[in-house]
Formats: sequence, structure tokens, C-alpha cells
Amino acid sequence: MADYFSPAKINLFLRVLSKRSDGFHELSTLMQTVTFGDTLTVEPAERDHFSCSDPSLPLDERNLVMKALRLFREKTGDSRPVSIHLQKELPHEAGLGGGSSNAATTLWALNELTDLKASEQDLMHWGAELGSDVPFFFSNGSALCTGRGERVESCPQPDLPPIALLTPPISLATPLVFAELLPTERSPEGDAEIGTNDLEGPAFRLSPKLKGIRDALLEVGVEKVALSGSGSTLICFGGEHATARPVLPLARAIGQWYCR
Ligand code: C5P
Repeated sequence: MADYFSPAKINLFLRVLSKRSDGFHELSTLMQTVTFGDTLTVEPAERDHFSCSDPSLPLDERNLVMKALRLFREKTGDSRPVSIHLQKELPHEAGLGGGSSNAATTLWALNELTDLKASEQDLMHWGAELGSDVPFFFSNGSALCTGRGERVESCPQPDLPPIALLTPPISLATPLVFAELLPTERSPEGDAEIGTNDLEGPAFRLSPKLKGIRDALLEVGVEKVALSGSGSTLICFGGEHATARPVLPLARAIGQWYCR
């Protein structure tokens, strides 16, 4: 039996460059893993079994863990039965890449279990079939991601001030946020300052409540607040006093929070 950590990610910046003919958007985003996440327990079994600590998640093919299992079997031809348990800590539709991370971790774990038939490069390519964010989880933990997000270039970890992450109980579906983006909200080029995200405009229009929380964080003295991915997690940047102290009472009042 082995436990595999499945970390969350945040987007330190996210630029949307253009809309593609396949419906996806061309991105340039600096992604970073963080030190909290879910845990997958994977072991050989007599027959397939999948369980999850969160009863609100489907256990069938809609779950990215099951999608990853099926894809791994298609690609490798190896279909020995496995038992997988997902201990879910990350909120869904929160811009933290929880489902994508679970898919990547499943591919990694199955590859270990079946004696490492595939290379990391293979796993990354297969991951891209499951979701744009999946390949990132095979990076060093810090990476510039382009294309629809699946082209991953690992980089040194950026020098960051302490960060607090606040995930209000607001679900934002990624396709809706991209669909709400106006052409004028796209960026002409890829590089950006840490703490900028072109999806903030559309996310805040879809959820004025989320914008209200961002404004409240700035009012209580957080130096900079940015959306992660398509939301709803807000990244609070700044010195320890500028993040933890003012954020804590607000976080207690409105939802979950994590501090790095
Ligand atoms: O690849 P993934 O399954 O994460 O994408 C979910 C949806 O988010 C896509 O169907 C698309 O509507 C939107 N998306 C996009 N451009 C991207 C990534 C995602 O428009 N680069």
C-alpha cells in the first residue's frame, strides 16, 4: 500500500492571450504547487475498488481519478485490478487544480505500481488528454505554462512573500468564466507581474460577492489580492502582518483558508 500526496496549485499570474478555433484559450500562466492537498492511497487488489472521503463527489467515470485509471489502461494495456482511496481536502471549482492534481497523481501511482513502464514525458502527454492543468503536476512545482496550459516549462521557484489563500464557499465553473471573458480583457503578451489574472474581470462579474470579499481584504490591509485560476480562491500576498492578521477574522467569517 502506498500514499501519494496530491498537491494544490495556484496561478501566480495568468494571462489570456487569444481565443483558439478549438474553443480553448491560449494562456501564459506561472503556476506553483503549495504544501497542502489531497492524499491518494493506491494498492494492488483482487478487484477494482474506488472510494472517496467526500460523499459529494461521483465515484464513476465523471471522477478524474477514474478517467486517469481508464486512460492509463488504454495506453499501457496493463489492467491488473487496483484499490484507490481519495482523501479529499481540497475544495472543488476553487481554482486550486484539485481534480487535475488527482488525475496526475493517479497516473504517477499506477505507473509505480506497474513497474514504471511509462516515462514522465509519456505521463505528461497522457495527462494533457485529461485536462489542460494536468501536465503541470509533473513539473518541478514551479512552471510557466503556455498553449491551453499543457505546455509546461519548469522554472526556479519564484521568491515570494508569505501567502495566505482564502477559498470562499463560492463555486465558479471554469468554462463559464472563460466564456464571460471579453476580447478587451485579453493580454497582448505573455509575461506579467505576479498577482495579476485576466480572469478576474469575468469571475467578479459572475460573482459580485467574490469581488466584495476581494475588496474587503484590500480594505483590511492586505497588500495585494489575486484570483487563482478561474476562482474562487483568492491569493493574499504580503508580509506576515499584511496577510495572516487581517485575513484570519475575515476567513473565519466567510470560509476556508490556508496559509503557506
Ligand atoms: O482543459 P480543462 O478540462 O481544464 O478545461 C475546461 C474548460 O475550460 C474548457 O472546456 C474550456 O471551456 C475552458 N478552457 C479554456 N482555455 C484553456 C483552458 C480551459 O477556454 N486554456
